[in-house]
Amino acid sequence: MIKNVVDVALGDRSYKIYIGDRVLHGIAETIKEKCGSVRAALITNAKVWDYYGSQVVEALDVEGIGYELILVPDGEQAKSLSVAEKVYGELIEKGFERKDAIIALGGGVVGDLAGFVASTYERGIAYVQVPTTLLAQVDSSVGGKVAVNHPLGKNMIGTFYQPSLVYIDVATLSTLSERDYAGGMAEIIKYAFIKGEPLLSLLQERKDEIQARDVDVLSQIVMMSCSIKAEIVEADERDLGLRAVLNYGHTLGHAIESVSGYQYNHGEAVAIGMVFAAELSERLGLLEKKDVELHRRVIDMYGLPSSMNASSIDEFMKVMERDKKRSMGGHVFVLLDGVGNPVVRRVDDNDLIAALEAFLKEG
Ligand SMILES: NC(=O)c1ccc[n+]([C@@H]2O[C@H](COP(=O)([O-])OP(=O)(O)OC[C@H]3O[C@@H](n4cnc5c(N)ncnc54)[C@H](O)[C@@H]3O)[C@@H](O)[C@H]2O)c1
Repeated sequence: MIKNVVDVALGDRSYKIYIGDRVLHGIAETIKEKCGSVRAALITNAKVWDYYGSQVVEALDVEGIGYELILVPDGEQAKSLSVAEKVYGELIEKGFERKDAIIALGGGVVGDLAGFVASTYERGIAYVQVPTTLLAQVDSSVGGKVAVNHPLGKNMIGTFYQPSLVYIDVATLSTLSERDYAGGMAEIIKYAFIKGEPLLSLLQERKDEIQARDVDVLSQIVMMSCSIKAEIVEADERDLGLRAVLNYGHTLGHAIESVSGYQYNHGEAVAIGMVFAAELSERLGLLEKKDVELHRRVIDMYGLPSSMNASSIDEFMKVMERDKKRSMGGHVFVLLDGVGNPVVRRVDDNDLIAALEAFLKEG
């Protein structure tokens, strides 16, 4: 049953996010209602297809929506121009036209790739996000950022292209690996710190149910997270200002991913990055010590790392130096001026170095 619907109000690009438990069987009806499509390209990978393909296909059959399956490789390597080119080829060979639709069934990788293809195929065809990882349900499927990677940089080739609808079945999270689940939790914890209550209390009070993947509480936290993201995207769809607050924990997080050779995954790196951003906020007189401790407690609660050890800050600074160039000369950080109140600030080199040295020594 659909439990929650979140609106993303973007004028003629507005859409709804449907959230429920064991709702895949209702997906085709919603697609028909919202897109009117009678033909869809179902883009997914073999792993997700094995788990959930039959449920989606049965639903499409019942509603008379014809489909063609397009399988892409599993993992980040699928977000490439060469895989996109293969997908374009299949769409052309199978005669897809602008009035048809693409269904992206999978995690953030499938969603970003399929969305990118949708944004460019025949100058844009409709697409539906059916996210099946926690990260995709609360983050990547919402907001219309679609991209593939370039050998010189992640997400470098992309565009803004909103889906026609997002259809979330939280029951699909039951098969997700522990590590991917924790990675998605890192983004939810991020929303809790940039927005505050009631999500922050919910994460602390209902930790056992959340960790047991209870579908009721999951529906609730996914809905709250999507609402927070929707509100920010509505205010700054093209990432020209406010949307930057969604990068809380990401500045050091990206450097950690890169310096560790991706041994820390995105969520783990962001978790450490949030504690650092909180410490930096405290150092600059914006946040109280108890709130830094709260970061550590909540992050530990969900099995994510809250610190790391490194003998030198040089490599981290080198990676962050590249970001600094791109932001025209300053290290830009999202800090908290109190929990629930993110601010984007340029941070002085000396403050950053001192904070980073202390942080990496503590770990
Ligand atoms: N567009 C955006 O705004 C945005 C935001 C954040 C992240 N991203 C992108 O998202 C990507 C990461 O997404 P991700 O973390 O979902 O990774 P992913 O898509 O690689 O999925 C992780 C793994 O889980 C598997 N999987 C998917 N659903 C499953 C299920 N229900 N049960 C079992 N296994 C399942 C996948 O096959 C994969 O092996 C990155 O490329 C990142 O750049 C995009």
